[in-house]
Amino acid sequence: MNYIHNIWTEKTNFFGNTDPLALASKYGTPLYVYNESILRSRCKALTSLISYPAFKVNYSAKANTNLSLLRIIRSEGLTVDAMSAGELFLELKAGFTPEEILLVCNNVSDEELRFAIDAGVLISADSVSQLRRIGQLNRGGKVAVRINPGIGAGHHEKVITGGQKTKFGVDPQFTAELKSILKEFNLHLTGLNQHIGSLFMTPESYIEAASFLLSYAQNFPELQFVDFGGGFGIPYHKDSQEKPLDLKTLGSELQKLIDDFVRKTGKKLTIKIEPGRFIVAECGVLLGRVHALKQNAQTLYAGTDIGFNVLIRPAFYGSHHDIEIYRDVPATDSEMQKVTIVGNICETGDILAKDRTLPSIKENDVIGVLDAGAYGMVMSSNYNCRLRPAEVLIDQSGNDILIRRRDTLEDLLIQFQDLLP
Ligand code: LLP
Repeated sequence: MNYIHNIWTEKTNFFGNTDPLALASKYGTPLYVYNESILRSRCKALTSLISYPAFKVNYSAKANTNLSLLRIIRSEGLTVDAMSAGELFLELKAGFTPEEILLVCNNVSDEELRFAIDAGVLISADSVSQLRRIGQLNRGGKVAVRINPGIGAGHHEKVITGGQKTKFGVDPQFTAELKSILKEFNLHLTGLNQHIGSLFMTPESYIEAASFLLSYAQNFPELQFVDFGGGFGIPYHKDSQEKPLDLKTLGSELQKLIDDFVRKTGKKLTIKIEPGRFIVAECGVLLGRVHALKQNAQTLYAGTDIGFNVLIRPAFYGSHHDIEIYRDVPATDSEMQKVTIVGNICETGDILAKDRTLPSIKENDVIGVLDAGAYGMVMSSNYNCRLRPAEVLIDQSGNDILIRRRDTLEDLLIQFQDLLP
């Protein structure tokens, strides 16, 4: 099989015993494809980040909640966080035990808190008022609290979750209030967590925030764990040789902080990190098909079936994803062109990749959107009544397995079923 532009998937043998054109014909497009070996390798890279015995990688499932992927991640020894009762429900179905789940929610109802309490899942309170509600619902129980360490990081202002300009976490100036509510409801504060934001490529802010949390932890003698949060970045600009996050440096700096803490306090707290993107982004490629080409004024458009209902990151954050092009012809046919790749949604902002210089794209080409495993499928929608894609796993033997079926037109009716005359 010859392709037009497929450097990364070729290098990683991403498609195993199959190929993107065969997958596109077999399952249709758009199609999320995940590679199990890459997923496992990312899990291992983080479980071996430091050598501290009580170290846990708590996968942030909001990045991808496919049941099959959750099961693989669990089999690699990771625990999991949940953002909602829905995530919690799926995680239990995937085989995580209640003790392996931390609910890191914000602004939720008593009903949702009750759901977690009844399931035996530890909840992290995101505010003093939520801590009080948890106290009322679960007097004498265990609880965690999310702290805002005053430091933020992230690829876009929308995903920076620490510092002055975010709704998240409890400001340490309210420590006295926290303590008095813990006392009032006889709550046991077993964990402190934080998350400064999503996608850092250098470790400084993360380390600074981790150092803050460890010193803050000394306020609470009952603590069993601290959770430094996620945010570990991945190189989205693979075509231009962007360097990956330097895990070695990050790991050794974390290790130093923890060793210092143990030496100073004599406490061997469980240390958790909570990555989502790093675990799943690179194991996913989104396949789509080119259905139209057109020139409008100065711009050449390649019109695909990857609308922002399928992958919203470029439209929502201006995020970059590298694009591959698959066509079964000799690779010599590669005149370069500047092209804007768009989807099939009725909005001008439905742009997947703007002004990219790529080998010329033709109708019926299949394109691959790299690094689509995180915040891809989970953020997809039925906008324009489009059907959400199927998901396929390339297993460790290189074989393709359907792990979520495509929506059907009938699915669009499900919520109305009992209401129709
Ligand atoms: N922990 C908490 C409490 C979080 O809110 C998040 C992400 C994570 C961990 C994991 O962060 P990660 O390691 O994946 O960076 N939709 C955006 C990202 C939103 C992240 C939300 N919170 C995107 O597509 O870039």
